[in-house]
Amino acid sequence: MKIAVVGTGYVGLVTGTCFAEVGIDVTCIDIDVKKIDNLKQGILPIYEPGLEKMVLRNVEKERLHFSTDLATAIQGCNAAFIAVGTPPGEDGSADLKYVLGVAREIGRSMTDYLVVVTKSTVPVGTAKKVKQAVQEELDARGSDLTFDVASNPEFLKEGAAIDDFLKPDRIVVGIESERAEELMRKLYKPFLLNGHPIIFMDVPSAEMTKYAANSMLATKISFMNDIANLCEIMGADVNMVRRGIGSDSRIGNKFIYPGIGYGGSCFPKDVKALIKTAEENGYEMQILKSVESVNENQKSVLFNKVKKHFNGDLAGKTFALWGLSFKPKTDDMREAPSLVIIEKLLEAGCKVKAYDPVAMQEASHIVGDKIEYTKDAYEAIIDADALLVITEWPEFRSPNFQVIGRLIRNKVVFDGRNIYEAKELMDLGFAYYGIGVQD
Ligand code: UGA
Repeated sequence: MKIAVVGTGYVGLVTGTCFAEVGIDVTCIDIDVKKIDNLKQGILPIYEPGLEKMVLRNVEKERLHFSTDLATAIQGCNAAFIAVGTPPGEDGSADLKYVLGVAREIGRSMTDYLVVVTKSTVPVGTAKKVKQAVQEELDARGSDLTFDVASNPEFLKEGAAIDDFLKPDRIVVGIESERAEELMRKLYKPFLLNGHPIIFMDVPSAEMTKYAANSMLATKISFMNDIANLCEIMGADVNMVRRGIGSDSRIGNKFIYPGIGYGGSCFPKDVKALIKTAEENGYEMQILKSVESVNENQKSVLFNKVKKHFNGDLAGKTFALWGLSFKPKTDDMREAPSLVIIEKLLEAGCKVKAYDPVAMQEASHIVGDKIEYTKDAYEAIIDADALLVITEWPEFRSPNFQVIGRLIRNKVVFDGRNIYEAKELMDLGFAYYGIGVQD
């Protein structure tokens, strides 16, 4: 089996590398020459645990290749995966110019039957446009070559992408011919051991599945954040409520952790895009609109607690931030709640000292030197007026509170991820604020 994966972003790189890992001949293609040169040397554009080693291993075994030349790479391929970006336009809809550009190039250069697979998250109806673009190019060449399109949405989580790919909960494939179904089943066979299912369906349903999955997960989070805010008012503890409802198997205990709002490149973008798709087709996604607005408000919840604790008197105060990325095990800063909190603290005239195990460089591209970056977690705390926990990195879970107590100016902790026990901190003389719990 031989495949091409176009786009060496997060999805493309993980997909290509994992297919190579099971013995498939993969060429990953990108128009960015520097990126491709770096990848050939094992220098990755993203941080993802375990990926670098896997890339190097497969390059060495000559199963994984990197190229900027799509026309050559596609020769003899059974399938071409399109995994290029779909940046949100001004109005929230996904911009398909890169996806359709790649489709055209495939049409111009293909020499045999192949399956053109959309892997990027694309609106319902995109595969149809891809089909049209490829066909137009074939017609322009006077070629009678045949091809199929397929939609194969990705459900990877950043920080756990390799495991998610190798041991998927499920693989969803939208197909329009038996030939394409057979090929996709063969390609994914190594990942189906141990009962991981592959679910075939029509193309629009597969495209919709991706948006429905991310929107449902975002809904769970916003729902719990709403409940958490009400718990605070009503004297309840959301940690207890979460356990209480999560043990109902119909609800489940995953993705019901309240916090400071969801971020990242997927949930915000996909929720927006589905609202937009519905709108364009005369339907209003009422629940998703609320999911979005609850999430926006939630990003300010921690700052509001800080403001209340200090009676609005924030100018000149110093705050230690633990964590900057939108979630642990990634350096991704896209839509990170930390950005909103930093902006509000700076606006209020505060000084911010931040530490993140991997995202500080990425953060500095956005925030610059408006905040101080420290070499470790404890350095951020020295003479701080409070500690704000923004991202639940493992190394923040059991810090030495005796040391923190000595270094910090005020013994106050704002825990945006509910990773500490309120009682434990209060016994040590700290003021503790969590999400959805009593102060
Ligand atoms: C998400 C989905 O989980 C993946 O299945 C999907 O493939 C991916 O989007 C995508 O579309 O590419 P990801 O954005 O990497 O993956 O991150 P998640 O682990 O899902 O976390 C998203 C956000 O939700 C984070 O900000 C996290 O802090 C927040 N979250 C998550 C909560 O606030 N509470 C929870 O209980 C769970």
